[in-house]
Amino acid sequence: MSKLLFHTLNLFIIFSACLNSLSNANSCRSYCGNITIDYPFALQYGCGHPGFRDLLFCINDVLMLHIASGSYKVLNIDYAYQALTLHEPHISTCDTIVLGNKGNGFALESWRAPYMNPAPDNVFMLIGCSPRSPLFQGFPGKHLPCRNVSGMSCEEYYGCPGWDVLGHNKWGGAEFFGSGPPECCAVAYEAIKGINLTKLECEGYSSAYNVAPLKVDGPSEWSYGIRVRYSLQGNDEFCGACEATGGTCGYADDKIRQLCMCGKVNSTSNCDSVGLSSGTRPIAVKMSPGLLMCMLLWITTNMI
Ligand SMILES: *[C@@H]1O[C@H](CO)[C@@H](O)[C@H](O)[C@H]1NC(C)=O
Ligand SMILES: *[C@@H]1O[C@H](CO)[C@@H](O)[C@H](O)[C@H]1NC(C)=O
Ligand SMILES: *[C@@H]1O[C@H](CO)[C@@H](O)[C@H](O)[C@H]1NC(C)=O
Ligand SMILES: *[C@@H]1O[C@H](CO)[C@@H](O)[C@H](O)[C@H]1NC(C)=O
Repeated sequence: MSKLLFHTLNLFIIFSACLNSLSNANSCRSYCGNITIDYPFALQYGCGHPGFRDLLFCINDVLMLHIASGSYKVLNIDYAYQALTLHEPHISTCDTIVLGNKGNGFALESWRAPYMNPAPDNVFMLIGCSPRSPLFQGFPGKHLPCRNVSGMSCEEYYGCPGWDVLGHNKWGGAEFFGSGPPECCAVAYEAIKGINLTKLECEGYSSAYNVAPLKVDGPSEWSYGIRVRYSLQGNDEFCGACEATGGTCGYADDKIRQLCMCGKVNSTSNCDSVGLSSGTRPIAVKMSPGLLMCMLLWITTNMI
C-alpha cells in the first residue's frame, strides 16, 4: 500500500470517527430546511418539552406548525427572544386583501396556551366583520376593542393598495361594506383570546408585527405574519440540569412528565442520578470511544 493512500485512508477514518462521536451529543436536535429545531421544540416523538409536543412537522424541508386553528408555515424560530414567526396564505397583506372567511386566524388548544401566545406587539386586523359580530357586542360598556397596537392601526392599513380594489378610499369610506361597524378592527390577541373568523363573523384578517427596535413607517413596510412568543413557565430547570449532565431533554409516554435521556437509560431527574454501573453517563461513555479513536489514529498517523 502506498504511503499516500494509507494516509488518506487514515484521515478518512479519523474524520468519520470524530464525526460519529459528535453526532451522539444530542439525538433530539434537528433541522428542517435551514431552520434549527432545538429544545423546547423537536420533530421526534418524546423529544423536547411536552408543552410543545405534536406541534412542528417538517414537510419537504418546509417547517409547519399545527394547532387547533390550522397549519402555518414557520419562517423563523428565534431562540434568544423565544419567538416564532408564522405565516399562512390567507393573511391579508398590504397588496392583497383576502376575503371569504378562508383564513386560519389563530386559536390554540387550551392546554397549550400557557406555553405560547401571539406577541403583545403583534396586531390582528379583522376585516369585514358583521355588525352582529361578538367583537361589537360582548365587551364591557360596549366599548369597541378596536385600537392601535404597537403603533399599527387600521387607519394606516387603509392606505394600502389592497384596499383600492374594495373601493375603500381616504375620503369616501367604504363602498364595499356599507355603513355600520368599521371595515377593519385592529386588536391585540390578549384582548379577545382567540382569532376565530367564523366565531367573530369576519370575512378576513391581517396580522403584522414590529421587530423592535426597528421602527418602520407605513403599512407597506410592516412585517406581515404572526409573531408568537413561547415560554417554559419556569419549568426549564429540569432541562438545564439534564443537559449540564450530558443528557437530552424529552418527555415520558404520559406526555406530561419530563425525561432526561441519558444514552440507553432515561432518568426522571438528570444523568448524574443514574448509576454509573448501568452504563450511563452518555456523553462521557458514548463520546470517549470516538474521541479515543480520534486520538489513537492521530498519534498513529503522525508516527508514520
Ligand atoms: C432560510 O432560507 C430562506 C430562503 O430559502 C431565506 O429567505 C431565509 O432568510 C433563511 N433563513 C435563515 C435563518 O437563514
Ligand atoms: C426514553 O424515552 C424516549 C422518549 O420518550 C423513548 O423514545 C425511549 O424509548 C426511552 N428509552 C428507554 C430505555 O426507556
Ligand atoms: C371557531 O368557531 C366555530 C364557531 O363557533 C367553531 O365551530 C370552531 O370549532 C372554532 N374553531 C376553533 C379552532 O376554535
Ligand atoms: C392610531 O394611530 C393613528 C396614527 O398613528 C392616529 O391617527 C389614530 O387616531 C390612532 N387611533 C386610535 C384609535 O388611537
